[in-house]
Amino acid sequence: MWQSGGMRRLWLTTEEYASRRGVSDAYVRRLAGAGQIPGAEKRGGQWLIPVLEPGPEETAMRTIAVFNQAGGVGKTTLALNLGYHFASRGLKVLLVDLDPQATLTAFLGLVPADLEVTVYDALLRRGGLPIHRNLAGMDLVPSNILLAGAEQELVSALNREGRLRKALDEVRAAYDVALVDCPPSLGLLAILGLAASDFVLVPVQTHFKAYLGTDQLLRTVDGVRQELNPNLKVVGFVPMQYAKGTQHDRDVLEALTAQLAERGPVLTPVPQAADFKKATVEAKPLALFNPRHPAVQVLEETAEHIMGALYGQSRGEVRS
Ligand SMILES: Nc1ncnc2c1ncn2[C@@H]1O[C@H](COP(=O)(O)OP(=O)(O)OP(=O)(O)O)[C@@H](O)[C@H]1O
Ligand SMILES: [Mg+2]
Repeated sequence: MWQSGGMRRLWLTTEEYASRRGVSDAYVRRLAGAGQIPGAEKRGGQWLIPVLEPGPEETAMRTIAVFNQAGGVGKTTLALNLGYHFASRGLKVLLVDLDPQATLTAFLGLVPADLEVTVYDALLRRGGLPIHRNLAGMDLVPSNILLAGAEQELVSALNREGRLRKALDEVRAAYDVALVDCPPSLGLLAILGLAASDFVLVPVQTHFKAYLGTDQLLRTVDGVRQELNPNLKVVGFVPMQYAKGTQHDRDVLEALTAQLAERGPVLTPVPQAADFKKATVEAKPLALFNPRHPAVQVLEETAEHIMGALYGQSRGEVRS
């Protein structure tokens, strides 16, 4: 076992890893043999797979805003799926839907219009966070269309940018990670999300439009850092809906990586896959809908990277 900064690295056998992932041992051995599980090592004829987990003394909740003002880039999909991968490592995960479209709420099988209490009430009425428990192993603070009025109503409110952070203070002891799914805008709701967070995770599409939009996005992050939340860090950019087979996507990925590298790591692209859409119809993360989908392995890797960053550690830490 490796341990440092409250994190421990466990080495799982292929059987243990397969059982966590809900796939067969033979499949995991095949993946490892093909070099598709980063960090896997063969020892004494056995594959061992490294997995980061928080140590028992690790308690402070980390908050991650999933943010991009561009619509439809994969914010909600990423928040839901990463949340699942964190939870499957034993982290207590809270998802916060900060989007009046309430896609995350719907992706988890709730009917937004039927909800009487949502994140809106916590922000506007200081009623405490309404929490729906154990949806695919995670807890959710839902949203619905009423949140659309919040930006207007908060205009003259005291400490409006700090409202979500304050609401989250009440539940810090109960969770390891909170993921805040921001709406596709640079408006007040997104600012509330960024002001409440320790980290910002940015899904980007490998399209030319994404290439143009990131400057504006990073200026907003810088503004929040300067005015409201000096500790905000960019934990990474995740290219989403990546079509490896097209020259256009490969070119844009290369250009984006060059453009963004100085602002944060550009993580492994999540491939374009119809199963993401199909999984949402069944209100499931991809790993539950189709555990053998190659994108699940990418999400595992992304979760592993982010956990390392959350707990101040990256791969290849000093052995204790
Ligand atoms: N890697 C992917 N491959 C294929 N489809 C995807 C992928 N990621 C997300 N999608 C689909 O793209 C659509 C938009 O994704 P999602 O809702 O996560 O984006 P978003 O950034 O949250 O959108 P919004 O800006 O409206 O909040 C959804 O239908 C989702 O299922
Ligand atoms: Mg969304």
